[in-house]
Amino acid sequence: MKLSATTAQNSFRYGWLLSRVWPYIKPYWFRILIGFLVAIPLGLLDGVTAFALKPYMDYVVGGKVCEFSLFGHDITITSMQMAIIIPIGVILFAAFQGVLRYLNGYISTWTSQRITNDMKFDLFDRLIHMHPQFFDENSSGIIISRYMGDPATASTGIVDQVKTITTSLFGALGLIAVMLYSSWMLAIIGVVVLCAAFVPIALIRKRIKSASNKNMVIGGNITTNINETYSGNKVMAAYELQGRQDADFRKQTWDSFNVNMSLYKRAGWMSPIMYIIASFGIATVLGVGTWLITSGQMTAGSFASFVTSLLLLYKPVKTLGNTLTSIQTIFVALGRVLELFDLEPEIKDAPIAKTLNGLDKSISFENVNFEYIPEHPVLKNISLLINKGESIAIVGNSGGGKSTLVNLLPRFYDIKSGSIKIDGTDIREFTLSSLRKNISMVFQDNFLYSGTIKENIMMGNYQATDTELEQAIESAHLQDVISELPNGIMTELGERGTTLSGGQRQRVAIARAMLRNAPIVILDEATSALDNESEAIVQKAMDNLMQNRTVFIIAHRLSTIKNADRIAVINEGELVELGTHDQLINIEHGHYKTLYEMQFKHQEEAAVNV
Ligand SMILES: Nc1ncnc2c1ncn2[C@@H]1O[C@H](COP(=O)(O)OP(=O)(O)O)[C@@H](O)[C@H]1O
Ligand SMILES: [Mg+2]
Repeated sequence: MKLSATTAQNSFRYGWLLSRVWPYIKPYWFRILIGFLVAIPLGLLDGVTAFALKPYMDYVVGGKVCEFSLFGHDITITSMQMAIIIPIGVILFAAFQGVLRYLNGYISTWTSQRITNDMKFDLFDRLIHMHPQFFDENSSGIIISRYMGDPATASTGIVDQVKTITTSLFGALGLIAVMLYSSWMLAIIGVVVLCAAFVPIALIRKRIKSASNKNMVIGGNITTNINETYSGNKVMAAYELQGRQDADFRKQTWDSFNVNMSLYKRAGWMSPIMYIIASFGIATVLGVGTWLITSGQMTAGSFASFVTSLLLLYKPVKTLGNTLTSIQTIFVALGRVLELFDLEPEIKDAPIAKTLNGLDKSISFENVNFEYIPEHPVLKNISLLINKGESIAIVGNSGGGKSTLVNLLPRFYDIKSGSIKIDGTDIREFTLSSLRKNISMVFQDNFLYSGTIKENIMMGNYQATDTELEQAIESAHLQDVISELPNGIMTELGERGTTLSGGQRQRVAIARAMLRNAPIVILDEATSALDNESEAIVQKAMDNLMQNRTVFIIAHRLSTIKNADRIAVINEGELVELGTHDQLINIEHGHYKTLYEMQFKHQEEAAVNV
């Protein structure tokens, strides 16, 4: 499920797009209809000014008197009165049109924002429930552009464009009506030319698709680059990687430039061509018009109305042309968004899932096989039984699969074959939520969210009381840290908790795990990144967390490992030895003994020397 590789296959199947978008439009159909109804008079009124020229030319300029009858009364309007009535009428119509324009704009902005919101809510909801592998495979840049950029382009675009299309379309229709009224023959010429001008648009469609997809990939790369510049700023400074980042950024920006230019080369000639075709129409109209007037088939006023309508027709037609181009981009974005709606998290609840309420007897791994990448086994046929209340240390070579093994228990990944059971029930039969509620995890690098320390600890259990919170802080040996901070527990942490030291961050994470009060505890190299001094205090915090719980602990400290009830040695994905320290140390040429000689022995000597 690598996102960057996916191109929207369905972006040009309009019926399919509409059927997928319909559920989002449906709740607002009435308002959209009202907006549409407002757009009709709004567009048609464009023709009024042009239409007003006919009586102006014929009665005011031509000096004719207007006589007609209304409800049996004969009404006579002199050319002087006409000279006043027509301009006032034009102003009144413009004011009326202004009101309609505001209404139409308001309704379409409201509906488009609401539809965008609904789509974003659904999309984000899907994103947060995706399985870890999805995040392993997709960079933050691509996720941001696909989950935030595309929906904005797609949904705001669509309603905006529908608004523009309806007003332009009805604007064009109103003007065409005036043209027909003035002279049907000239009108036919005008409309034929108009249709001819649209031909280039039909040709452009698919050419835009590939460029737009490329643009999205480049945009994602740029975002990733900026994210990495931010997250890796110290490494960048230390290794003077500024040049590398800069070169990448320049290349990506130029790529984007080239794609945009090629997009313009493909689509940009459309508008000039439309103008040229239209100018042929105008030339023809002028010729035929001269003939119609000189032969007395048309008044000068009608011709003035007609030519004005034709000139005014330029704008809506041009807008329609541009809109049809940009709507392609919108459909491409929409196609990509809809694709995301079809992504299912690979790890989810079984149709009928049970609730896990604590651990009674044991956790068992039975012939577990696992691989991240097909045909590259990471865990091979692991069987392991852990009793309630037991602590098991997992040791082994780096990259051997220790973290992977413990990540299988909360179902961050699902196994390929075999089973993992809690009290005899396969973990895939439990709801994800109840399974994870029973597990507290502390990693080597724990993510703290921006917000206060309190919030970060309360994430373990939002229902915790103040006393429980205090106990957790105390058990995690955080009280000294907190008392020295200006705002105590309400101190705001920087992004990723950067304002705390590594050891302090670990203790916040332990307090979080403590509050969760889960029967199963997983500690994955929780002290590995720390210096000796902070390690000692974090170790004390961890000891508190481990009390009376079933514990999986991956550690490099001999005393921690020796303290565990049993030690499991994982080598290259296989469980090679299992037993207590004393049992394993006596296996000649054993894996544990080798590890001990290489890594742990000097720790013991150092400890003795202190
Ligand atoms: N998210 C992942 N995607 C693909 N491969 C992974 C992922 N995480 C770990 N691996 C690979 O799986 C193997 C075991 O890794 P891990 O369980 O982290 O080892 P350990 O914790 O024992 O050092 C390694 O070869 C590692 O490269
Ligand atoms: Mg690891």
